[in-house]
Amino acid sequence: MEPLPAEQPAIIEGAIEELEARYSSTNPTSRAQLSSASRVLPGGNTRAVLYYDPFPLFIESAVDARVTDVDGHSYIDFTNDMTAGFYGHSNPVILAAIRSALDNGISFGGPHQHEMALAEAICSRFMSIDRVRFCNSGTEANLLAMGLARAATGRPLVLAFRGAYHGSLASYSNTDAPLNVDIPQMRFARFNDEQDVRRVLEKDGAQIAAIIVEPMMGSGGGILADRAFLAALRAMADECGTLLIFDEVVTARLFPGGLQDLVQVRADLTTLGKSLGGGLTFGAFGGRAQLMDRLDPSRPGAILHGGTFNNNVLTMIAGHIGLTEVATVEALQAVNSRGDKLRHKLLEVAKERRTALSIGGHGSILSLHFQPIAPQNPAEITTTPKQRKLIHFDMLLRGFYVPRRGTINLSLATSGEDCEAFLEAFAGLLDRYSTLLPRDEASAKA
Ligand SMILES: Cc1ncc(COP(=O)(O)O)c(C=O)c1O
Repeated sequence: MEPLPAEQPAIIEGAIEELEARYSSTNPTSRAQLSSASRVLPGGNTRAVLYYDPFPLFIESAVDARVTDVDGHSYIDFTNDMTAGFYGHSNPVILAAIRSALDNGISFGGPHQHEMALAEAICSRFMSIDRVRFCNSGTEANLLAMGLARAATGRPLVLAFRGAYHGSLASYSNTDAPLNVDIPQMRFARFNDEQDVRRVLEKDGAQIAAIIVEPMMGSGGGILADRAFLAALRAMADECGTLLIFDEVVTARLFPGGLQDLVQVRADLTTLGKSLGGGLTFGAFGGRAQLMDRLDPSRPGAILHGGTFNNNVLTMIAGHIGLTEVATVEALQAVNSRGDKLRHKLLEVAKERRTALSIGGHGSILSLHFQPIAPQNPAEITTTPKQRKLIHFDMLLRGFYVPRRGTINLSLATSGEDCEAFLEAFAGLLDRYSTLLPRDEASAKA
């Protein structure tokens, strides 16, 4: 196809309209299912991130590295359930473990060996976790970790970062989001800005129970925390008697012991979720024995932490098998290096076409920003919703299941060929639309 003429608002809108029309006409069943679902689910939706206009694709099935929608289109999956689908859709080792577990009962209502096995696997991999507690989501893990920090320190406040996402009840791209809890007890600083943290601590440090941080902002745009920033948080937390919580719900999949393994900064509490449940519902928080043992029910004055499905058998088994037999050190290195190779080639392809592109994230998680300089915090992201929409529709129509927010996630099932196919499709996209995207002035001048 011919490249389009240079950027003008009317033209990007025209291109989106044309793509949206093709998308709508090729996906009538998804449209109809959204309409039916809307009778019983608000907007036909029960997880906001899965909604996009005019209607999201409804998925019929998923195998290995592919998903198939209800209109029969097959896509190579580069969403992978927003990082939770790390193992791919049908890892045989995990599926066999779940199948054999089904024959032995799925809800014991008592302690069992599988929770101990998963706990042992987690404690041996994460350097800062001596003891761990399970729950059912990353959101819960973060709220529980913040609650434990408040109880342990006797302080009411928590410091978080603007643009961070710690779950549906702790979502700080808009700190006043109506469902957020404890907002009067929250303080906020700018991510990757030590001075801003110091400013908040100088004012309220004596009342701050914990600093909670994603070592790499996930939904905030794949923005890595500088190592020096995390080390400074560690030092400032110690000065103030404040606990440091690393939210590794997304980043745990990047290294055997999470991103803290790479940066060698030790958290007091670490929260986990998503992929560590082997693809099933999961959350966990853990840390130093002395801190976690406040939850030991045999002790006088123990802090109560319950949860009907905290030790649900299927998750405990899938999580344990996944962590010990599938997410091996070698497997993590291999998928990260596939991600790094793709990152490098995408940047090359963009440079050749003089399109401004920076790619955040790390290893198997890539966040595409159409701007020459990588953002250091979410306020620096300049890619517009229209640009995101254009790319989203175009990649879907080319057969790649990608999220609208622009982060692509490889799974262990994503092959080198899948990455090559993605690269080729992305080059095709840029050949057609690079004039509607920001120009890379540096390579344009060269
Ligand atoms: C960094 C981070 N923390 C916590 C959560 C919340 O996890 P869950 O959706 O399991 O509640 C998410 C979810 O996207 C996340 O990205």
